[in-house]
Amino acid sequence: MNKNFFIPGKSLLTVLIVCAFCISALLPACNTGLNTQTNNGKDVAKDTGVFVPPDTSTIPHDQFGDMVRYGRDLIVNTSKYIGPDGIAGKYLGNKMNCGNCHLDAGTRPFGFNFFSSHARYPQYRGRENKVLTLSERINNCVERPHNGSPLPLDSKEIVAMVCYFKWLSANVPIGQHVKGDEMPELEYPNRPADLHKGEAIFLKECASCHGINGGGVWKPDSSGYVFPPLWGEKSYQNGSSPSRVLKLARFIKANMPDKKATWRKPYLTDEQAIDVAAYVNDGSIHPRPQKKDKNIPDYLDFKYKAIDYEAGPYVDTFSATQHKFGPYKPIIDYHKAHNLPVIF
Ligand code: HEC
Ligand code: HEC
Repeated sequence: MNKNFFIPGKSLLTVLIVCAFCISALLPACNTGLNTQTNNGKDVAKDTGVFVPPDTSTIPHDQFGDMVRYGRDLIVNTSKYIGPDGIAGKYLGNKMNCGNCHLDAGTRPFGFNFFSSHARYPQYRGRENKVLTLSERINNCVERPHNGSPLPLDSKEIVAMVCYFKWLSANVPIGQHVKGDEMPELEYPNRPADLHKGEAIFLKECASCHGINGGGVWKPDSSGYVFPPLWGEKSYQNGSSPSRVLKLARFIKANMPDKKATWRKPYLTDEQAIDVAAYVNDGSIHPRPQKKDKNIPDYLDFKYKAIDYEAGPYVDTFSATQHKFGPYKPIIDYHKAHNLPVIF
C-alpha cells in the first residue's frame, strides 16, 4: 500500500525535476530572439524586453533559405520586382516598397514590423468579415496601400514573403504577440485633431524630406523613392490602414521625423503626432487613390470597424468626422460601456 502510494509520488517528483530541467534547458533556446543586442546596431536594448529578430546571417543555405532571402528582397525592393514595371510581374499600382512602411524590412520594433505575423495568421479580419491567411493579408497591402491587383496566392513571390515571415517568427509562440510588434500607445487629447497645427508641423518637420506637396522624392532612376509619398495618386489608398489617423500617428510617434524620432525617444508629442497624421490623411485637401472594386463592402459587421475608420455606418452614434479626427476618447468610452470591441 505504502509502496504503491509512494511510487506515483516518486515518479511525479521525477517528472517535476525532469520538467524543471527541460524548461531551464529550453529557456535559452526560446529566448534566442529576446533581450539580446542585434549585431547590426539597431536601436534595441537588452533591458527593454523588446523582441529581437533573428540575424540575416542565420538564414539557412538551402532551398527554404533561398526563398527567405528572396522574400526579404521583395519587402525591401518591392517595386523592382512587382511594381508597375516589375521584373517578376506587374501588380502594384505605385512604386512604394513594403519597406517604406514596414521599416528595416519589417524588423524595426514599433515600425509596422512582421515579428509575430506568421505566428498570428490565419486570423479573423473585421474588414473582410472572415478568416484570412497570411498570403491573403499580404494581398490586402498589395491592393490598398499599393493600389494594385492581388498576386496569385501560389506565386513564387507570395510564397517567398511567407517564408521570410516564417523565418522571422521562428522564436515566437503560435498565436502570441511579442513586445514591440504593435505600435506605441497614445494619449488622446480631449479635442479633435488640429489640422492647422498639423500643417505647421508638416512644414517644419516633414516637408524637407517628403516634399511640400507630399509627393516624396524619387530615386534618380525613378525605380522607387528616396523619400516615399504621403499623399496623392502615387501614395496609399483611402481606407487603407495607414490612411487611418491613429494608426498613422502611432507610427509617426515612434519613427518620424526619420533619424530624429526612435521608439525609445519619440520626437513629437502624442498630440503633435495626431495633428500631423490628421493633416496628412485629410482627404478634403490631400486626395488619394480610391478602392478599386467599390462593390465589395468593407466591414459587414460594423462592431469590428476600427475606431478611426473614416466611413460609416458605425455601430455607435458618433459622426464620421469624429471617428476620423477625434476626440476619440468619448468613442472609446462608449464602446467600453456597451461591451463593444475597441479596435485600432
Ligand atoms: C503605405 C504603407 C504600407 C505599405 C507600402 C505596405 N503596408 Fe503592409 N501594412 C501597413 C499597415 C499600416 C498595416 C497594419 C499594421 C498594424 O495594424 O499594426 C499593415 C499590415 C500588414 C500585414 C499584417 C501584419 C500583422 O502582423 O498583422 C502584412 C502581412 C503586410 N502588411 C504586408 C505587406 C507587404 C508584403 C507589403 C508590400 C507588398 C506591404 N505590407 C506594404 C502599411 C503598409
Ligand atoms: C529625414 C527625412 C525624413 C523626415 C524629416 C521625415 N520622414 Fe517620413 N520617411 C522618411 C523615409 C526615408 C521613409 C521611408 C523609410 C524606408 O523606406 O526605410 C519615411 C516613411 C514615412 C512614412 C511611411 C511611408 C509613406 O510614404 O507613407 C510616413 C507616413 C512618414 N514617413 C511620415 C512622416 C511625417 C509625418 C514626418 C514629419 C513628422 C516625416 N515623415 C518626416 C524620411 C523622412
